[in-house]
Amino acid sequence: MSKHVLTSTIAAVTLLALAGLAVAQSAGIPLQSLRGAGVDEQVAVQDNFRLDEKRFVRSYRQQPPLVPHSIDQYQIDLSANQCLGCHDWANAGNRGAPTLSMTHYLDRDNNQLDRVSGTRWFCNQCHVPQADAPELIGNTFQSSSER
Ligand code: HEC
Ligand code: HEC
Repeated sequence: MSKHVLTSTIAAVTLLALAGLAVAQSAGIPLQSLRGAGVDEQVAVQDNFRLDEKRFVRSYRQQPPLVPHSIDQYQIDLSANQCLGCHDWANAGNRGAPTLSMTHYLDRDNNQLDRVSGTRWFCNQCHVPQADAPELIGNTFQSSSER
């Protein structure tokens, strides 16, 4: 495609998009987010997210369990991981917390380690706090034990 044709195509597409936006606005359809708030409005976190007080049953066998407590206060960075203060094998008994399972102590070559593996360091990469949030889009999800 020549440079000229490309430039005019881009210009035409931009014009069309702007025209579409103008039509949508004049038809009184306001832009809004999936939760129904205006695009420039903040949705308060407290309204959507709530912790349950007990551990949830997993929805499928391999699911990282949801965190049944708040995690705001627990720092995780390159050198510190406060989750381990309760969940590491050496501390869990005293803290009454579930011990990390064996998979957390395997390195990528399947060697068993005594310290949590680097691949499991950033806990909230896989574990998220429980949330009672309304579905953004209705769905028919069922846990694997319900099927
Ligand atoms: C002060 C101690 C403490 C700290 C720190 C802590 N936890 Fe926990 N955690 C617990 C206890 C106690 C439970 C069990 C709660 C229960 O049985 O109701 C638990 C439960 C969990 C579970 C649920 C396990 C399951 O099988 O259902 C996950 C996942 C978890 N914690 C992840 C984390 C992560 C991630 C962090 C850091 C961001 C963290 N925890 C920090 C004490 C702690
Ligand atoms: C790469 C994803 C991943 C990361 C990172 C990770 N986990 Fe897990 N975790 C899982 C999965 C998957 C399970 C369930 C299967 C299993 O036990 O391996 C699990 C299980 C657990 C359990 C329940 C153990 C049991 O036997 O009931 C706890 C507690 C837990 N993780 C805490 C943590 C903490 C604390 C960290 C950070 C130090 C962490 N996990 C990092 C994926 C992860």
